[in-house]
Amino acid sequence: MKSNAWASKVGFILAAAGSAIGLGAIWKFPYTTGTNGGGAFLLLFLVFTLLLGLPVLIAEFLIGRTSGKTALRAFEELGHKKFTFIGVLGVITCFLLLSFYSVIGGWVLIYTVLGFSGNLTSMSGDQLGELFGTISASPLYAILGQVVFLVITGLIVLRGVQSGIEKMSKILMPLLFLCFIILVSRSLTLEGASEGVRFFIEPDFSALNRTSVLSALGQAFFSLSLGVSAMLTYASYMKERGQINRSAGWIVSLNIVVSLLAGFAIFPAVFASGLDPAEGPSLLFIVLPTVFSQVQFGTVFLTLFFLLFAFASITSSIAMLEVVVSSITDRKEDATVQNKKRNTIITTILVAIVGVPSALSFGVASDIMWFDKTIFDWMDFLVSNILMPIGALLISIFAGFKLDRAIVERELATGPMLKRMIPFWRFSVCYLSPLAILIILIWPLVFS
Ligand code: TRP
Repeated sequence: MKSNAWASKVGFILAAAGSAIGLGAIWKFPYTTGTNGGGAFLLLFLVFTLLLGLPVLIAEFLIGRTSGKTALRAFEELGHKKFTFIGVLGVITCFLLLSFYSVIGGWVLIYTVLGFSGNLTSMSGDQLGELFGTISASPLYAILGQVVFLVITGLIVLRGVQSGIEKMSKILMPLLFLCFIILVSRSLTLEGASEGVRFFIEPDFSALNRTSVLSALGQAFFSLSLGVSAMLTYASYMKERGQINRSAGWIVSLNIVVSLLAGFAIFPAVFASGLDPAEGPSLLFIVLPTVFSQVQFGTVFLTLFFLLFAFASITSSIAMLEVVVSSITDRKEDATVQNKKRNTIITTILVAIVGVPSALSFGVASDIMWFDKTIFDWMDFLVSNILMPIGALLISIFAGFKLDRAIVERELATGPMLKRMIPFWRFSVCYLSPLAILIILIWPLVFS
């Protein structure tokens, strides 16, 4: 099949940032920060993002860009067929990830529709809590939301990822920022907000629990879409020698900014309204309507926010589906557009089927627990805290030891300053990242 290509370098950055920014930064980050005690978790997340996430992101970009091939063929193309299992692992992980990501995506869609009805901003905190309970527990809403979310994702992948994303992102991303600024300004000026700010930025290491460090690592990789060959796949659509460093820098910065905005929007409001920061997955859905109810034209902004949030989640789910579909299609040299269409439809249906138990985990299947975790929790734990770090570890080692040094230099050294950075990058992907990931993965097992 003829390969796809981004229309411009900006197109690549927008698409990769679109894949990164989604439920991870906006929904998962605030609630895991809340359940892990606040500031200390934020600090760990930032350190892991910069020290481990950034180098691994560059590693994925390098493998994708220099091979020009998607997950299952990139390693072979670079002369290391033995390492194809890394791509296989990535594709499987993306498939599993999409199966539960779409559950939350479904909630966001439902809240967008509810936003239009105008009722959300007139509800009390308790009522919002009840509403969330009803929506997440109802098999009908949960599965309907999930299926609609997947259908939208599938339709966009069917039409070709490149054409749509670039144009839409240019308008919608800045709008998302605008909404966040309004939200944060209101949240910070609520009475009692300062306690929330303190909770979010003052590190209290005694508040961390046994698995907090692993969760912070998982969050850093999850929110940058690392370890699953997604960034590799997007980079393979970059036809000219790109500015890998610059793109990676942009994506990491945008991701940090959005995570911080989400934290500053949510925690001050949580404390101002006497809610519990360790509320869990419902946090955003209960807190945001409360804040917007105290803003002029709150209903409009809340609806716009959920709409943009849905868009941000869909640009992420597109990337997951694209990784799976492109790699199984790409396997054959003579694959056609028809093959890709058929694969998209089949994959979307399979993901929906596999996702049903996760969708039911907040309602009828909430009693199915193993070691205190529901099916959804297990899927998330397995993908975010185990498979993604392992994938990142392998990619890191591959890029550090197996990629041709001359090629790496050619791709990364676009100026004298950057040339001097290469040894740091190499040290990080060869030793620092793999060791840190290994220690953090093994830690909770040894000290349980
Ligand atoms: N970064 C995405 C988010 O924060 C989630 C994600 C993880 C992802 N891995 C991915 C998205 C792979 C696309 C592809 O929402």
